[in-house]
Amino acid sequence: MSARTALFVPGPTNVPDAVRRAMDIPMEDHRAPDFPDFVLPLLQDLKRVFKTRSGQVFVFPGSGTGGWEAAITNTLSPGDKVLAARFGQFSHLWIDLCQRHGLDVEVIDVAWGEGTPVERFAERLAKDASHAIKAVLVCHNETATGVTSDVAAVRRALDASEHPALLCVDGVSSIASIDFRMDEWAVDLAVAGSQKGFMLPAGLAMVGASPKALEAAKAATSHRCYFDFADMIRTNKDGYFPYTPATTLLRGLRASLDLLEAEGLENVFARHRRLAEGVRKAVAAWGLSLCAAHPRWHSDTVSAVCVPESVDANEIVGLAYRRYGLSLGVGLSKVAGKVFRIGHLGHLNELMVLTALAGSEMAMRDAGLAVAPGSGVAAAQEHFRETATPRARAAAA
Ligand SMILES: Cc1ncc(COP(=O)(O)O)c(C=O)c1O
Repeated sequence: MSARTALFVPGPTNVPDAVRRAMDIPMEDHRAPDFPDFVLPLLQDLKRVFKTRSGQVFVFPGSGTGGWEAAITNTLSPGDKVLAARFGQFSHLWIDLCQRHGLDVEVIDVAWGEGTPVERFAERLAKDASHAIKAVLVCHNETATGVTSDVAAVRRALDASEHPALLCVDGVSSIASIDFRMDEWAVDLAVAGSQKGFMLPAGLAMVGASPKALEAAKAATSHRCYFDFADMIRTNKDGYFPYTPATTLLRGLRASLDLLEAEGLENVFARHRRLAEGVRKAVAAWGLSLCAAHPRWHSDTVSAVCVPESVDANEIVGLAYRRYGLSLGVGLSKVAGKVFRIGHLGHLNELMVLTALAGSEMAMRDAGLAVAPGSGVAAAQEHFRETATPRARAAAA
C-alpha cells in the first residue's frame, strides 16, 4: 500500500502529530521525585473534559471495557439490581459484563436504532419505592447504531422520583466529542476510553466518579483488585499510581488535553456536530437512511448507514478497504450486513470527511448499490461551504 489507510472506524481514531510526538520519548521513571509534577496537573485537567469539579477521574491502563468493569465493581455488590436498556452491541456488552459480575440486571430491550427509553425508566423508577434499584446504566452514545441518548433526561427521571440509584454512563464514544456534563447531570460514574475523542491509541480507561460513587465504593463488595478505586485514591493524591502506569500514553494524554483546551471544548463539540451533519446530508443524498430512528438520536461521532436488503453492507466495507484503503466500520451483531458505519470523531476536518464519503460512494457502487457518483460528496461539500466560518477552519487546522 502506497499511502496510509484512511481510518474512519469509530475508534481507534486518527492520532494528531502533536500527540504522536509527545509519545515518542525515552521511557521514564514512574517513581521519580518529579513525576507528580506531571501527573497532578494532568489528572486535574482531565476533570475539565468530564466537566466535573466535585468528582475524581481515574486513569487505568485498559480499554473502555475495563472502565465499565472498574465503574461497577467499585460501587456495586453481587445481587444488586441494576436498570439498563439494550439497543445496540455496546449497551448489550455492558449488561453482559454486569451479569457476569453477578448483578441482577433488569433489561429493557428496545429496537436497535432507538436510544435510552427515558419514559420507561421514569415509570420503573417511580414504582421502585423500596429503592431496590442500585444503579441505572446509560450508554450515552451507542457506537453500533450511531445513537446518542439524553443523559440529562435520565437524571431528571431519577430526580422526579427522588430515586437514589447511581447514574452510570458509558461515555466511551461521546466524552471529548459530544457535550457531556458530569456534574451538571449529576452523573455518578462516567466511562471513557483513550482511542476515541481523546485521539490517542487504545490503552487507557478513564473513569469519572462522583463523591456519591466514592462513598458507595466504601460499602461495595464486588471483587476488584487491579481496578480498585481505593488504591488509586491512595497513590494518585501524591501524583503516583498503584502499579506501573502507561507513561507513554499519559504523555500523549497531556498533548491531547492541550489540543482540546486550545480548540475549546465547545468548539470541539461544534466541529463534531458540523462534520456529522455533512455526513448526514451525504446519506440523504444517497437516498439511504441512518440506523438512528429519529433525528433526536443522531450521533455526532458515528453514523450507521442502512443499506437495502439486496446488498451486504460487509461487502461494502471489504471493498472500501481492499480497493481504496478506506477503513469503515462493519455492522455488529444484530445489524451485521445491514449497516456500515462511518466514524467521524477525533482529529478530523471537512476534507478528511469528504475522503470517507468519496470512498464510501465508490465502494457502494462496486457492491451494486445505485448511488449517484459524487452525490453524497456534493451534499456534504455544500453543507461545509455554507457553514464555513474562520473559526471553524481554524479549529479544524
Ligand atoms: C460505546 C462504547 N462502549 C464501550 C466500548 C468498549 O470499549 P473498548 O473496545 O475500548 O473496550 C466501545 C468500543 O467501541 C464503545 O463504542
